Amino acid sequence: MPSEDSIQSIENSAAQVIEGTDSLAGLEAVKTQYLGKNGIVTEQLKRISSLPVEKRKEFGQALNRIKIQIAERIQARHENLERAFLDQQFRDQSIDVTLPGRSGTLGTIHPISRTLRRMEQIFDRLGFRVAEGPEIENDYYNFEALNIPANHPARAMHDTFYIHDHGLLRTHTSPVQVRFMQTHRPPIRIIAPGKVFRCDSDVTHTPMFHQLEGLSVDSDVTFADLKGVIIHFIHEFFEAEPKVRFRSSYFPFTEPSAEVDMGCVFCGGEGCRICRHTGWIEVLGCGMVHPEVLKHGSIDPDKYTGYAFGLGIERLTMLRYGVRDLRYFFNSELSFLRQF
Ligand code: PHE
Repeated sequence: MPSEDSIQSIENSAAQVIEGTDSLAGLEAVKTQYLGKNGIVTEQLKRISSLPVEKRKEFGQALNRIKIQIAERIQARHENLERAFLDQQFRDQSIDVTLPGRSGTLGTIHPISRTLRRMEQIFDRLGFRVAEGPEIENDYYNFEALNIPANHPARAMHDTFYIHDHGLLRTHTSPVQVRFMQTHRPPIRIIAPGKVFRCDSDVTHTPMFHQLEGLSVDSDVTFADLKGVIIHFIHEFFEAEPKVRFRSSYFPFTEPSAEVDMGCVFCGGEGCRICRHTGWIEVLGCGMVHPEVLKHGSIDPDKYTGYAFGLGIERLTMLRYGVRDLRYFFNSELSFLRQF
């Protein structure tokens, strides 16, 4: 007959084993070892029936007591192990909020957009508002209304992408002039930046590029106003005061017309490869709006006059930043674009 002592020794050994177990899985095995169907305590309980009647109660109570004690020990150990496991997990996975952040790579503004913004700011200070027109134009606005009738030799210069009989991709931003005049009354003072398209592709030409059109129409607008605005713009844009000259030229939609050159920013007018040793660089076309164009815009040429100008945004960007090849703007090379 097992004694009180031997029961107590089961309890003692269980206590030792439980304390020595340091995993939840191990603890589960210990539980089976003592309290399972064939466990040490269970085996003892099975023996009760073979004891003399007067011993059964005492022995049963003692066994039950250690059974509960062991169960409680296992439960307590379980909680400890679980807490330790969580603590460890917190330590392993904790975030050090004092560490410096890792910054993502930010994109940059494309040099063409940058230049455009800069131009818009300069013209904004001169009272020009931004206007827009469609990239898909028709023959009337791209040519006809700009005094370039069918078979006019100037059409040949435009290398037009035709879409169908009368639809085309605008070859310049000048169609916005007439569209704006048709819907607004003088005084008019707008710039119209945007994409233009020409069927032309080589080292200095891309089939799509950007222009910025300017238009001012009012009762006493003169060529002197045009000169003042253009010279001011060039000085502001280049943050320098290169010489500027107006060279007489021809556009069907302006009369008189001029092309504007500025002293070469690369050689200071000495003559270099970029200015083809002339000391001058061509920057834009301009002139006084032709009376026929005003008429297409429903503006009376006897009451109003206006000037217009058009410049290439890529070209001015190249001059300002010293970019040597037009194709850099279009080939998405990050090492180039990140410099801006
Ligand atoms: N549209 C002309 C071009 O593309 C530029 C220009 C605009 C000239 C306005 C005069 C006036 O070349």
